[in-house]
Amino acid sequence: MSDEAFVTLATNDGYAKGAMVLGCSLRDHHATRNLVALIGPHVTESCRQALRSIFDEVRLVDVMDSGDAAHLALMQRPDLGVTFTKLHCWTLTHYDKCVFMDADTMALSNIDELFEREELSAAPDPGWPDCFNSGVFVFRPSIETHEKLLTFCADNGSFDGGDQGVLNSFFNTWATADISKHLPFVYNLSSIAIYSYLPAFKHYGRDAKVVHFLGKTKPWCYAYDAQSGEVAGRPEGPDSGRLHPDYLQSWWRLFATSVMPLLQRAYGDAPFDSGVMQLGNDDKLHQYECGDQTAAVTSTAASAGVTTPPPISSEERKQRWEAGQIDYLGDDSFANIERKLDSFLK
Ligand code: UDP
Ligand code: GLC
Ligand code: MN
Repeated sequence: MSDEAFVTLATNDGYAKGAMVLGCSLRDHHATRNLVALIGPHVTESCRQALRSIFDEVRLVDVMDSGDAAHLALMQRPDLGVTFTKLHCWTLTHYDKCVFMDADTMALSNIDELFEREELSAAPDPGWPDCFNSGVFVFRPSIETHEKLLTFCADNGSFDGGDQGVLNSFFNTWATADISKHLPFVYNLSSIAIYSYLPAFKHYGRDAKVVHFLGKTKPWCYAYDAQSGEVAGRPEGPDSGRLHPDYLQSWWRLFATSVMPLLQRAYGDAPFDSGVMQLGNDDKLHQYECGDQTAAVTSTAASAGVTTPPPISSEERKQRWEAGQIDYLGDDSFANIERKLDSFLK
């Protein structure tokens, strides 16, 4: 139906890659609505070209920034002021109803049924479940609502410095008024939730419909070995390694198979850093940037698993876990925890 659309946002090329994977994931699962990407002026022409071959509409918007360093510092995400740009989605009035999805989300199945919901429907935030997470939400474009939202921002600001704070204050009856506006959690599943309640993930995880790579470290901050099909790099950063390895792998598989050919066509002969490597042929240092994080991986280090820290005792492991130093991709990987859970359950 052309009066309904899935909408995403990218203000730079990193998030544009995320948007491309999201768009491909929706197409792969036979989404029947239009796909719209809102982009900022910093998205390069090559990325715009690749986006245009996936999305029905790629629309340039002004970047809006809350400039609210104090609240953003509380979330340790100074980069999220620009998420105010998301509010432009209400101006898409040539659509009757839309589903907004962050560029760091990926559909795992067909989710057209979301259009049966009303504004504002969203799933609970894993950090504060009386708030909704604004990474996936159903809304009705309206200039009136858009203007009210901008006035609301100017008058009240945002309690988190980003769009989620504003939207929760504006749609402030979400938590209590109408349960049909609570999307099931499987429409916005983030790694943070997976690791904080593993048995629930083990029980319900197979029904996941949308994965959300919430947090500072995004899939495109890693690298991928096209030869082995393994995610190769592991960026430095506070929450590096917290992404669920299976979903991270699926993201990269989709990127390598569906997005790379479009980017190659768009860039032509010009070199570009995709994060996809052919390891094993040379020993070159591959260095890539992602926001303010820089990650480096040599082909030999990558094929050897990037880093191999010395083994530690189970007591020390427990202490590190309790201190929040969790080795999500190593000792504390989901596969290891699942093995332990299974042995307890037996
Ligand atoms: N976003 C963007 N550029 C930025 C930061 C954010 O385009 O520099 C958009 C993008 O769609 C992104 C969304 O705003 O998915 C929300 O930011 P993010 O996903 O990083 O927040 P998180 O879900 O990690 O809290
Ligand atoms: C959240 C949401 C994201 C939003 C950000 C800023 O963590 O996942 O979509 O942009 O907060 O409010
Ligand atoms: Mn997000």
